[in-house]
Formats: sequence, structure tokens, C-alpha cells
Amino acid sequence: MATRWGICGAGKISHDFSVAMKTLPAGDHQIAAVAARSLQRAQEFAKKHGVSRAYGSYEELAGDPEIDMVYLGVLHTEHWRVGLLFLKAGKNVLCEKPFAMNSRQVTDLIAASKRSNVFLMEAIWSRCFPVHAEVRRLLAEGSVGDVKLVKAYFGSPQLHIPRSVEKELGGGALLDIGVYCLQFVLMVFNGERPQSIQATGVLLDSGVDESMVVVMKFSGKRMAFCAFSIAVPLPNDATISGTNGTIKVLGPMHCPTSLVVKGKETQYALPEPCLPLNFTNSTGLRYEAEEVRQCLLKGLKESPRMPLSDSVLLAEIMDEVRKQVGVVFSQDSQ
Ligand SMILES: NC(=O)c1ccc[n+]([C@@H]2O[C@H](COP(=O)([O-])OP(=O)(O)OC[C@H]3O[C@@H](n4cnc5c(N)ncnc54)[C@H](OP(=O)(O)O)[C@@H]3O)[C@@H](O)[C@H]2O)c1
Repeated sequence: MATRWGICGAGKISHDFSVAMKTLPAGDHQIAAVAARSLQRAQEFAKKHGVSRAYGSYEELAGDPEIDMVYLGVLHTEHWRVGLLFLKAGKNVLCEKPFAMNSRQVTDLIAASKRSNVFLMEAIWSRCFPVHAEVRRLLAEGSVGDVKLVKAYFGSPQLHIPRSVEKELGGGALLDIGVYCLQFVLMVFNGERPQSIQATGVLLDSGVDESMVVVMKFSGKRMAFCAFSIAVPLPNDATISGTNGTIKVLGPMHCPTSLVVKGKETQYALPEPCLPLNFTNSTGLRYEAEEVRQCLLKGLKESPRMPLSDSVLLAEIMDEVRKQVGVVFSQDSQ
């Protein structure tokens, strides 16, 4: 039986997610309903993507008994409030990154999922790509020896996008794209808590971060370096340096199609989209959709690819980074 998805929010990433879904077998994945704050937007989205039910409120989607999984594609600032709505209604939830605005909100979402005994995952889609699966395999077999340094870059000029720059919309480089660099480091170091975090950055006039550099130290003389920016492009790649060679995930490292291991490059093709996409390589969202389906079929309440413990640690690191750089959101005092 197909996994019946409900899409929450009729914006850019929900569009891309729905296009990616069309690259998977219809017998496995079906978008059963879409909800937006306005019925007209939901209906337009439903027409474009061939979705049978359209709702003009998120509450109606939460009350739809014929939904197995909600994809939460709304702004970061809404993840906590809208996530709790669905979790309290007993829905399984795949929530876009960043999970929420701070670690307190993240732990609230996880507690709600436990109370309702439902599945919950932060949509760090990178972890579900074949390239990342291969990186984990190579690390597990020790192919580059002892990993000493991990570097990750993500620079994407987006100062023209309101949700990237405005504080009340959850703007800033860290929560939007820095999260991908930090999660990559945590994946390589198996979700280990860093021994130290040193962050510096520059802010926009709105008070959110334009660019940041984060250096972390881990046990066993291991280190990580991340640089990210919403002002300038960067290589957007990630490098794992070991005592016996290097693994390089070529840009875009958050949705990669090329891996270089000890100098040898391998390509991983993505399917073509049936409609134009808003973001790079978005048909790769298919991998996290399939990961979620496999988890549901196994009766899991979280994904081993992106465990909830990694999401909590990620949020705690981002809280500390923001504290050091001086980025404060209204949600921090609520
Ligand atoms: N995985 C990825 O590669 C990827 C890429 C881009 C974004 N994202 C994540 O996806 C989320 C949405 O990003 P997006 O680019 O799709 O954003 P978007 O299109 O600007 O907005 C998404 C939805 O959020 C709701 N929304 C917009 N403005 C709002 C406001 N002022 N107050 C309350 N709700 C508002 C709207 O829902 P309605 O349709 O119901 O009105 C809108 O459709 C973000 O958390 C982002 O980090 C992930």
C-alpha cells in the first residue's frame, strides 16, 4: 500500500518535494492532500500536482484520517507551532530543516512525538542521498584511516529573499544553510558532542547572521571547520581528511551527486524533474521520502539516518553558535 502524504504549506520547498515524489513509484507514494493558510493557494497547488484534497487550514489536514505522514514545508518560525498541531493530532511528521528555532523547541517537538507514539524526523535530506550512504560505508570500514579534520562550506547569495534576511521570518545563514555543514560534521563523527565550539560571524542590520565560521574540537584530536554565508558563493563542498587519504563530497554537498575518494571521482545521477524546480537537485528529496516510507514499514518512530539525538545536538550547537555571535530570536525568550 502507498504511503499517503499530506503536504503542509504550499510554498517553494513543498512544490519541489511534490515534484520529487513523482520520480518514485505511484504504488509506494501518494500525495493525498495539501493544506495552506489560504484555500485558493492549496487548490492551485493541488491542481498543479494532481492532489485530490485541498484544505484552507492546517487544522483540517491534521483532522484528515487518511494521511499517514505529514510533510511540513512551512517557514522555520512555524515548525514548532504547526509541528505540535500535527503531533498532538497523532500524525507522523517529516519536518523541514532547521527542526525549529532553538533546542528547547526541538525537545518540545520530540516530547510531543513520544507522547503520541508517532514518527518524527528533521528533513536533513542530505543524509538520505546515495553519496552520504557511501561516505558512511567508507568511514565504517576505515578507508581513509583516522579522520582528523572535516571541512564543510556552504555559501549561497540570498540577501534578496525575505525569509533569509528578516529576523521575524527566522533569517540568517546558520539556520538555513549552516545547518547542512554542521550536520555533515556530526554525521562523520557519529553524533558525538564537540568538546569545544568557537564561532565568529558578521550580522546584517536586521540582527541575523550574514556569514559565519565555526571551529569545533572533538575527542581524539579531531577537528571540524565550517564556513557559510548568505552573501557570497562558496565551493559548497565537504572534505574528510584522514591519516590514509581524503574523501571529498563535491558541491553541492547538501544534495550531492559526486564523490571523490582518494582522488577517484564517482558520479551519482539524479532523475529529471517533471516540472521546473525552485532549488538545486531537488528531485533528490525522493531519497528522504523513501527513507520515511521504509521507517514506517518497519514500525520505527525515528530514522536511523537522522536520529532525533542528532537533531537535538545540532540544535544545541546552533544555540551555542548564535550565543557566541550574538543572534537572538524572540523564540529564545518564550
Ligand atoms: N530541503 C531543502 O533543500 C530546503 C530548501 C528550501 C527550503 N527548505 C526549508 O523549507 C522551509 C520553507 O522554505 P521555502 O523556501 O519553501 O519557504 P516559502 O516558500 O517562502 O514559504 C513556505 C510556506 O511557509 C508559509 N509562510 C510563508 N510566509 C509566512 C509567514 N509570514 N507566516 C507564516 N507562514 C508563512 C506559507 O505557507 P502557506 O502556503 O500555507 O501559506 C508558505 O507556503 C524552511 O524551513 C526552509 O529551511 C528546505
